[in-house]
Amino acid sequence: PFLEPLPSIPALYSSIGFSIFAFLATIYLVPALGPTFIKARLSGRDLLKVYDNKIPREETLVPESLGLVCASVYILSLILFIPFAFSTPILQQVHANKPMEGITVAEFPHHQLSVYLSSLLSLLVATLLGFLDDVFDIRWRHKLPIPIIASIPLLMVYYAERGNTNVVVPLPLRFIFGNLINLGPLYYIYMSLLSTFSTNSINILAGINGSETSQALIIALSVILNDLLYLPWPVRFQVPLHLLGNNAELGFGGVWKAGMAYGSRELVERHLFSLYFMLPLVAVCIGFLYHNWYPARAFPGDTLCYIAGMAFSVVGIQAHFSKTLLLFFLPQIFNFVLSCPQLFGLVPCPRHRVPRFEAETNLLHPSKAAEGRFLKAPSKLTEIALRILSTLGFTELTTDPTSGVIINATNLTILNVFLLRLGPMSEKKLVQVLIASQVAGSIFAFFIRYGLAWLVYDG
Ligand code: UD1
Ligand code: MG
Repeated sequence: PFLEPLPSIPALYSSIGFSIFAFLATIYLVPALGPTFIKARLSGRDLLKVYDNKIPREETLVPESLGLVCASVYILSLILFIPFAFSTPILQQVHANKPMEGITVAEFPHHQLSVYLSSLLSLLVATLLGFLDDVFDIRWRHKLPIPIIASIPLLMVYYAERGNTNVVVPLPLRFIFGNLINLGPLYYIYMSLLSTFSTNSINILAGINGSETSQALIIALSVILNDLLYLPWPVRFQVPLHLLGNNAELGFGGVWKAGMAYGSRELVERHLFSLYFMLPLVAVCIGFLYHNWYPARAFPGDTLCYIAGMAFSVVGIQAHFSKTLLLFFLPQIFNFVLSCPQLFGLVPCPRHRVPRFEAETNLLHPSKAAEGRFLKAPSKLTEIALRILSTLGFTELTTDPTSGVIINATNLTILNVFLLRLGPMSEKKLVQVLIASQVAGSIFAFFIRYGLAWLVYDG
């Protein structure tokens, strides 16, 4: 359905229209539904604010898991958009004066419909899981595998489309592995883990106003920018083929249409698909960020982290740029790797790892992993891990003055690293630093992907 050159891709304009609708719906519905969420006990106290003891607790509650509103608006927009995404074959029938006769299987792009529907299915499972997590606080080890299951429809469609499982070997390693390695089933395992990573990694980089939403927003904008590079712009605006990289992941199939675009038609279609899923996501994120910005009047809850994370792995897998996608997650990868000692039980992990708030100065400070001191002395492995992290400046250790044993450490999060390196700052400043790091990560990602590709690939 996406065959025309850019100025006449009508579906793209519809997608932009639905995104504007999604933005307006979110900005209106979030405050309108806040009280309903509080009544349903979906609320939390902002951990990093001061409260007057005379005000009853109920009045200080902030509605939580409004990501459900975002997810609903987002998924509804995507569903309403389906007839527009497939308008070309329908319009062809209308022009042939037989609108209701149906289209033969050969004429209708069923594979694209299955890509679209399987993506919606994964997004729905993610929303369900996120919301259940908000309501029941699911244990870590229980919630980890669920996104893997949610990704099965995507993997099946990827398989049906004879999706590529090759990776291009960087030049220096070619004498060992050859030009391409076929990872086969391992590639599917990698893609299914991608959904677990993208959902959870946003969720654990959280706890300050605006953090979850702004991460999702910047990653989505980065994906959009990347998609735009592949569209059939008028020739003089096109990105030269050698910069896009002629590698197997992209599946270039020759010139799409002389003078219109360099990439293959499939390539353009995949990136249009990605745009159709990212534009309304950006819209709901902007709409929600308005209410979630410091001081937050609404919290996203785990639902927003899950729907956004799943949307990213959906486009990464279905539009075949999952490795490029990971480059947009640099702060999340750093935060996840840093968090591992706490996530896997080497270092105590409190329920909340948010920075410590000092009411007198209104500033945030790095928070500690344990209150007072660790209950038991760290094992040899933990000790080594903590010493390395401390040498790198990623945590600050408290040691027993007599024995030298580690008795406490700051929580292993990127937010604490910012506070350790840059000194105490306000919550608003900290979220701005987080946003800056995300933007810097994306700029670096584009540089690696398109600036250094010639070093790694001889595309
Ligand atoms: C994850 C983090 C946890 C962090 C929490 C904050 C890990 C392993 N888990 O847990 O350390 O404390 O997110 O979201 O890293 N809140 C605020 N301000 C905000 C957002 C949330 O105070 O801007 C508080 C509110 O009390 C809210 C609660 O965090 O009710 C939500 O926490 P939840 O998303 O349920 O925590 P997890 O995702 O389990
Ligand atoms: Mg959360």
